[in-house]
Amino acid sequence: MTDRNLLERAAAAMSNSYSPYSRFPVGAAIECSDGSVFTGCNVENCALGCTMCAERVAVGNAVSAGHTDFVRLAITAESSNYCFPCGTCRQVLMEFAPDLELLCARGDGRYVSYNLRNMMSSPFTKEHME
Ligand code: THU
Repeated sequence: MTDRNLLERAAAAMSNSYSPYSRFPVGAAIECSDGSVFTGCNVENCALGCTMCAERVAVGNAVSAGHTDFVRLAITAESSNYCFPCGTCRQVLMEFAPDLELLCARGDGRYVSYNLRNMMSSPFTKEHME
């Protein structure tokens, strides 16, 4: 699957975003080592703190289906800036895939790619619980 294909999957999920409060739809598509892809959109709530980001919804969908071996994640938004994952999502992704490749897109379709490990300095990981 090309980067573009994965970004298209994220954009398709973004069309289902429930974001009446921020009016900031986000889509995510996470690819697993076996090639399977799981998607998510942000799901907001009138109790704003209950909001779920698109990335965590995608991770939840994947884990629920028995997949945790993530290799690449595409994130789309309609913004003029690239959509980077929030700190909570970085932490959740770090649990499963410290070297995850991230494709962060903006509204005009351009995107930048990052390695998750390079987006977090001194992360708390399961090794820190040993
Ligand atoms: N949001 C995401 O879904 N993913 C991100 O990477 C950034 C933020 C959502 C949360 C909320 O619904 C809206 O975008 C505005 O913060």
